[in-house]
Amino acid sequence: MKSISIVSVLLGLLTLASEAVASPPAAYEGRRLYVSYCQLCHGTEGHGDGPLAKQMQISPADLTTTIRSRSDTILKKIISGQGRQTITGRDRHNLLSDAMPGWVDVFTEPQVDALIAFLRFLSRSKHEFMGDPEIGATVYQQYCVVCHGEEGDGDGIMTTLMRMTPSDHTNPNETNLLSNQQLFDTIATGRGQFMPAWNGVLSQEEIEGLVSYIRLLSNL
Ligand code: HEC
Ligand code: HEC
Repeated sequence: MKSISIVSVLLGLLTLASEAVASPPAAYEGRRLYVSYCQLCHGTEGHGDGPLAKQMQISPADLTTTIRSRSDTILKKIISGQGRQTITGRDRHNLLSDAMPGWVDVFTEPQVDALIAFLRFLSRSKHEFMGDPEIGATVYQQYCVVCHGEEGDGDGIMTTLMRMTPSDHTNPNETNLLSNQQLFDTIATGRGQFMPAWNGVLSQEEIEGLVSYIRLLSNL
């Protein structure tokens, strides 16, 4: 009996470990929160032009530019609404009005970190979303992880079985150089010996979703 319980403990640990590996990338998770809680005012791409913006007396910030000069610590304070008074600097932009809701106790710490990862993504990315990353995430898990790895850094299980080097999708400098159309075409028509062509297997909508999901992988 004792050995059985040890086995089940080990199995439990294994499950925990694989769940940890399979946890979605921070910017992707952050985007989901952003869509529900922030885009109303700050807009889909963060430019401060959401549907509620016109109602606001103080315009929602264009997050793609303002947050570049903000440290993570300051962003945490701004988002959680804690210590707004302590955000003092020489320029007036460091003083926020209460037009920005303080999300005290709404988010857990990992959620705030994920939101910040997505804001950093918005300020760094040179490309609009081509498709729905939610669709892309599902398809990526199903077809791409085996080579490109859970986190997209190119260490999927197939790399231990065959000699190949899948592209690392987590390097923002590399993926930012590629246009949406270039990424789309590589996925659709394949590349080299081992990157398959997914034309015919995946729909246009799915490939467009993949393009956007890959971009979210690339900003960790
Ligand atoms: C009801 C509208 C509204 C919503 C919803 C909202 N914001 Fe804001 N936000 C604002 C306004 C307005 C400002 C500008 C406040 C000012 O300039 O005094 C702002 C400012 C900010 C700033 C500071 C920008 C800077 O660097 O100066 C950050 C960061 C921010 N918002 C993040 C978020 C995040 C993350 C969410 C979602 C969790 C969110 N906001 C939801 C209205 C909103
Ligand atoms: C059998 C392994 C394998 C599978 C499965 C696979 N890839 Fe690849 N992929 C590769 C390899 C190897 C490369 C590098 C090709 C080269 O440059 O020679 C690559 C390259 C790429 C690139 C090119 C990136 C760049 O820098 O231009 C993209 C995009 C890509 N893969 C996306 C995907 C997507 C999306 C899926 C799932 C639908 C997928 N791959 C599935 C092996 C794979």
